[in-house]
Amino acid sequence: MEKFVINGGKPLKGTVKISGAKNAAVAILPAVLLSDEPCTIENLPQISDVQTLLESLSTLGADVKLINKDTVRIDPRGVRSCLVTKEMAEGMRASSYFLGALLGRCKNAVVAPPGGCDFGVRPIDLHIKGFETLGADVSIENGMVEAHAEELFGGSVYLDMVSVGATINIMLAAVKAKGLTVIENAAREPHIVDLANFLNSMGANIMGAGTSNIRIRGVEHLKGTTYSIIPDQIEAGTYMVAAVATKGDVLIENVIPKHLESIIAKLVEVGASVTEYDESIRVKMTTRPKCCNIKTMPHPGFPTDMQPQFGVLLSVADGTSVINEGVWDNRYRYLDQLSSMRAQVRVDGKTAIINGVEELSPAAVSAVDLRAGAALIIAGLMTKGETSVGQIQYIDRGYEFIAEKFSALGADIKRVSVPDEVQNIKLA
Ligand code: EPZ
Repeated sequence: MEKFVINGGKPLKGTVKISGAKNAAVAILPAVLLSDEPCTIENLPQISDVQTLLESLSTLGADVKLINKDTVRIDPRGVRSCLVTKEMAEGMRASSYFLGALLGRCKNAVVAPPGGCDFGVRPIDLHIKGFETLGADVSIENGMVEAHAEELFGGSVYLDMVSVGATINIMLAAVKAKGLTVIENAAREPHIVDLANFLNSMGANIMGAGTSNIRIRGVEHLKGTTYSIIPDQIEAGTYMVAAVATKGDVLIENVIPKHLESIIAKLVEVGASVTEYDESIRVKMTTRPKCCNIKTMPHPGFPTDMQPQFGVLLSVADGTSVINEGVWDNRYRYLDQLSSMRAQVRVDGKTAIINGVEELSPAAVSAVDLRAGAALIIAGLMTKGETSVGQIQYIDRGYEFIAEKFSALGADIKRVSVPDEVQNIKLA
């Protein structure tokens, strides 16, 4: 087990380069199974979720070759299996994308139920509704999700809730189905557009990605392609919030400013100075942040994956802030950790009320999920004294070289091994 030990209170200054988007990468890698030829994927983030998916593709029979640190060549022609076991899925949410990809490839898929961060219930009923609309039979057999179809035919699917995963999975299953598939009330996140662009570069016929109405005309074959993943807007947002929280001055490079509009608006609202360039953003802060209210929504609303990072920033804002979590049932577990740093917070269902204090107190805290972990690092960076963040395996799932990137900005942050016996005592 490992933890981050942070000696906080220093303003972050300098330049940080953003990596490829985790939530685009974890959709595009399974999508390679739909190709009849090898694909080369560039700008892959070096994170454990990507590593897990590459190992799963190899176990399924694909030939996976690392070309360089962020480029992989995947040849799916050797894939014979349609089974993704619990071990292969590693409790990741994105393992569910193998359902759509294998259904689209060979009309058969047997996949362990998806895991992922614990925000309360994370059903896949909308994914299944989509597969059944295309003509698949879906069942749960011996704890595995099974999807089979004689043939897949296009159909019209209305998503009762905007769902990133369901939108992606239905796209994957529909791209080689016979006829037209329409997804209504589709998710509009940048990673949905990135997946559609990837599939279209292989010869798919997908229109409307990025809007709530996506039309997919099935094609018989998809050829190989070389494709570069978009930059990660949540990683970028995380460093932007860290710059504001530490009253620093940071240039965030390799971003698409349009993907950051709602995050920029909120940082300006709390008093930050934000300068947009073509592919970079400069964030400066010299004063205590003002309080503000936040409601997380599907894109283009304020992203739920930035909620914990802003919760930490607002814990030292001047005044009381209210956060309403519009996507997940329970995404406030990190606030318990923040309370041990003397944050003044109260949770009432999907609403968090945060009374800003002048300064938090350093403490030993633990990541409870990916973005909560990143948020607690920000809490340590903005607080004088030594804060440790445990359970950092959650953070390694989605942030490439996070300690190195923060150190390059002047932070005092170290990755430290925690002997298991100590870890167990702590966990007990
Ligand atoms: C994706 O999760 C992201 N994960 C999450 O990011 C992100 O928080 C979420 O989208 C929302 O943007 C990946 O892309 C790997 P949803 P996903 O389906 O697809 C309900 C991170 O930090 N729902 O859009 O699982 C669901 O319960 C991670 O990178 C159903 O009811 O999210 C939730 O309330 C954490 N039935 C809402 O819809 C379904 O069949 C949105 O979920 C599917 C979803």
